[in-house]
Amino acid sequence: MAQSVLQGRSVLLVIGGGIAAYKSAELVRLIRKAGGDVRVILTRAGSQFVTPLTLASLTGNKVQEDLFSLTDEVEMGHIELSRAADLVVVAPATADLMAKAANGLANDLASTTLLATDKRILMAPAMNVRMWLHPATQRNLARLKQDGVRFVGPDAGEMACGEFGPGRMAEPAAILEAISAALAGSTVIPMPDWQAPAASAGTGPLAGRHVLITAGPTHEPIDPVRYIANRSSGKQGYALAEAARALGARVTLVSGPVTLPDPAGVHVVRVETARQMDEAVEQALPADIAIFAAAVADWRVQDEAGQKLKKDGKAIPPLLLTENPDILARIARHPNRRPALVIGFAAETEKVVDHARAKRLRKGCDIIVANDVSPAGGVMGGDRNIVHVIDGQDVVTLPEMTKTEVAAALMQRFAGLARSGT
Ligand SMILES: Cc1cc2nc3c(=O)[nH]c(=O)nc-3n(C[C@H](O)[C@H](O)[C@H](O)COP(=O)(O)O)c2cc1C
Repeated sequence: MAQSVLQGRSVLLVIGGGIAAYKSAELVRLIRKAGGDVRVILTRAGSQFVTPLTLASLTGNKVQEDLFSLTDEVEMGHIELSRAADLVVVAPATADLMAKAANGLANDLASTTLLATDKRILMAPAMNVRMWLHPATQRNLARLKQDGVRFVGPDAGEMACGEFGPGRMAEPAAILEAISAALAGSTVIPMPDWQAPAASAGTGPLAGRHVLITAGPTHEPIDPVRYIANRSSGKQGYALAEAARALGARVTLVSGPVTLPDPAGVHVVRVETARQMDEAVEQALPADIAIFAAAVADWRVQDEAGQKLKKDGKAIPPLLLTENPDILARIARHPNRRPALVIGFAAETEKVVDHARAKRLRKGCDIIVANDVSPAGGVMGGDRNIVHVIDGQDVVTLPEMTKTEVAAALMQRFAGLARSGT
């Protein structure tokens, strides 16, 4: 799929000053292999990590580094450079580049280009976990999203600096996928949501409604480098977000750590732990429909270690668990901001419908969508799903479909219920 979309298309790749710049050389190779042309803008800091010669050899094009280069201005001015491409990709997007772009600074070739372009911008952030989680970076991220910039990653994991958490640049293959998705849509920058009510509110059956969706797993830290996780890929939740958006809703997607690109036109809030997800859901209220598709960890480690636990020949450290907040039950019984329609997902490995029925009553939600996640079915991480929709005493089983088709069928159903005021 990537090949057909990239064939004959041109990507302007801005490489910032982070260690992940070495991965961008691999990204160039992948784009070219898929039939795309790549031009590179290398920032001054970026050139500390990867050489212009490497990038010129890989792209077959001159690497642009200087805003005030007479030769480059004559050959291809910075405005033309910013507009000649079909897509602008920033990888690695450093904290500095994000800050400049969020604030409209234009004091070097990279930032001037980001301000001057009329094309979509896709950023692949990469930075130390503290830098990523800093309120300033998160503010810049929110502002850039509002401006229509798309994001892929960052991933959570062990970092070159020895710390652990979100901030690692998405793998080149995932960035390539996000590039393909961005190119498959319009190449003209979408109007920011606050300027384009028609585009954000849509004209479908969910026009004017706010749909809140959770997706993916949560990661519960044991120590700074280890965590408890589950096999959820986030695919079903992301597909639901796209389906809700397609029906005209304003969509907030609260996502645990996954490798999927942000769905177009959806406000994505990335979190790691159940407690962060709970907080992000609360922040996103009020909503008309809330769909809890995330596989939230039931438990977390009671005493997270501040330093990496050591195998020092003494007793094996016991892991004492404590209960995480029950986000679905809390929202379903919210004292003043309960969404009109609250939907939970149940991942079961046995007695799927019976357990899901009991869960619906226990949690106080309106509908439970149950799926069988036994390893044999390949639902977790796979692309297909069989779901049972449990609504009061009724159980409707949908035929096996792709997760995208399941999402479309479910959202049609939920939109109908929301309209009838159920
Ligand atoms: C060894 C080293 C690694 C760095 N890695 C990162 C990084 O991964 N992400 C980041 O945002 N900044 C990183 N920095 C800091 C940036 O290089 C610095 O903020 C720079 O001004 C960014 O320039 P840019 O706007 O051209 O990307 C690193 C600095 C050093 C010395």
